[in-house]
Amino acid sequence: MSVTEKPVRPHPLRVIGFLLASFPLRIAAFVLVVLALVLGITTTMLWIGIPVLVAATSLTRVFTDLERGWCRVLLGVEIPTPRRLPHGPGLLATWQTRLVDPTTWRELNFVLLALPLGIVEFVAGIVSVAVPPFGIFVAPRIGAMHAALARSMLGPDRASQLEARARQLKASRARGIDAVEAERKRIERDLHDGAQQRLVAVAMSLGRAQFKLDSDDAAGARALIGAAHADAKLAVSELRDLARGIYPPVLQDRGLDAALSSLTARMPFPVDVSVTVEPRPPAPVETTTYFIVSESLTNIVKHAQGADRAAVRVTRDDDTVVVEIVDNGQGGASLRPGSGLSGLADRAASIDGVLTVVSPIGGPTVIRADLPVRW
Ligand SMILES: Nc1ncnc2c1ncn2[C@@H]1O[C@H](COP(=O)(O)OP(=O)(O)O)[C@@H](O)[C@H]1O
Ligand SMILES: [Mg+2]
Repeated sequence: MSVTEKPVRPHPLRVIGFLLASFPLRIAAFVLVVLALVLGITTTMLWIGIPVLVAATSLTRVFTDLERGWCRVLLGVEIPTPRRLPHGPGLLATWQTRLVDPTTWRELNFVLLALPLGIVEFVAGIVSVAVPPFGIFVAPRIGAMHAALARSMLGPDRASQLEARARQLKASRARGIDAVEAERKRIERDLHDGAQQRLVAVAMSLGRAQFKLDSDDAAGARALIGAAHADAKLAVSELRDLARGIYPPVLQDRGLDAALSSLTARMPFPVDVSVTVEPRPPAPVETTTYFIVSESLTNIVKHAQGADRAAVRVTRDDDTVVVEIVDNGQGGASLRPGSGLSGLADRAASIDGVLTVVSPIGGPTVIRADLPVRW
């Protein structure tokens, strides 16, 4: 999720198609929108002008939506639509929002600019067909430039991108704090109910054994020391489990591949594991991945009736690790507040990641997390 986008390099044939085929549309868009605008402005005094102006903006929307679609399909550039939603129900609120929305006017500017631009692009399209080297080497650059212009005029402006990013970071920070607090409570409860109880039992058994020794009851003392020994061993194993729940040692020593393979080895049916994460992601990403896989596998055993196959796939590119756990069970998984999966979603959000659950009734279930490796 970055504010700056990657440069695009569209395919020459698609660009040439785009340059040639979009031209008639640009003429139609220009003529219709200018007609509606002129009609709207000249009749504003008669009130009819306002609906005509709104109709002009509707036309602009249709053409710019088409432009976004073309940019996506032919130039490979996704341009989000940053339009405001009406602030209330009713036609008046819709019109009002439309007329004060800066996107409306940016879109209008684009439609007007698109005609002169379209003429130049159309000529470039014809030259591309006539002179193939031009089509192969220059046309894609023209396409990329068009895509960049369309993105800057039709996509969200920088201020609203930064605003959205700030909102997202604020939400992710809040969820991070909640997740840490929940984790702290869990550790406190585990320590209190587990190891602490065992150690209390050890102390009591040893105290009573000492008492028995003082009264020369060696057999009684031996039994109590045996019980204390057993409790001490349990306390050690509970502490080890607790530590593993915070940061599994195998993860630190041998990385994600080994750690995930050891998780899947405990499953009652074979699980296909594929982990390609070189170079090694930062520790918080590894731990989050580990816990997402661990909880999802536990869920498969607990909830996915009929599942007899599952796959775990972890891949990374320059800036994201993608984790996917798929099973062929009955489906129906959902993110309920306070449950395991939503805890994982919070954990992912705390490092700016996103967890998605796709689990239609009848299956299959896909749990996917996109975790950035840079913040
Ligand atoms: N792999 C799965 N297949 C089918 N249902 C699932 C699966 N994973 C989770 N679910 C359903 O989604 C619910 C939420 O899962 P989760 O958040 O982990 O909560 P829980 O604490 O119940 O495991 C579960 O109660 C279960 O009904
Ligand atoms: Mg669960």
